[in-house]
Amino acid sequence: MRPLTAVDAKAMAVIHAKSFERGWPELDMAVHINRDLCFGLGDPLISFVILSVVDDQAEILTIATHPDHRGTGQGTTLLRGAMSRLASRGVQTLFLEVAEDNVAAQSLYRRAGFDAIGRRPGYYRREKGRVAALTFSKRLDAAK
Ligand SMILES: CC(C)(COP(=O)(O)OP(=O)(O)OC[C@H]1O[C@@H](n2cnc3c(N)ncnc32)[C@H](O)[C@@H]1OP(=O)(O)O)[C@@H](O)C(=O)NCCC(=O)NCCS
Repeated sequence: MRPLTAVDAKAMAVIHAKSFERGWPELDMAVHINRDLCFGLGDPLISFVILSVVDDQAEILTIATHPDHRGTGQGTTLLRGAMSRLASRGVQTLFLEVAEDNVAAQSLYRRAGFDAIGRRPGYYRREKGRVAALTFSKRLDAAK
């Protein structure tokens, strides 16, 4: 796992556009690289995660793997690596929102030890209507 830099912004935008109905442009990725924690796998990039950290809490803003590489453990490696880095800098709780119909992502999070703690109706706007979000959280082990 490597920290991402400005040169990765374009590849992040490409993967994100292939992963979500509403892609985030390269310029937005450059802002995240400056403001948040961004980690990735592969060079060229095949998977990345963006994390926002405030005090002892963090949030996964997005995580995505290039469609050609899904189901090969990239997301799991990235998530576990990110949790370890966050724990070692004192973050105690990690949150995220996931669409209620996103089975793959929920499987990833549950297997990594996240629990669903809430539901936010209509959180995501899609072309075909709104979809609820599930809020997941996990306490991070400072020993890791
Ligand atoms: C969610 C995502 C990041 C997982 O990345 P990945 O590199 O495929 O992750 P892994 O290979 O470690 O697999 C993670 C889990 O997803 C499951 N999975 C992968 N592709 C799947 C699919 N098409 N359908 C159902 N489950 C799938 C795997 O079986 C695995 O579940 P398991 O832990 O119970 O075995 C990836 O599917 C993706 O980029 N999706 C689009 C973007 C997205 O939805 N991001 C999450 C937003 S909250």
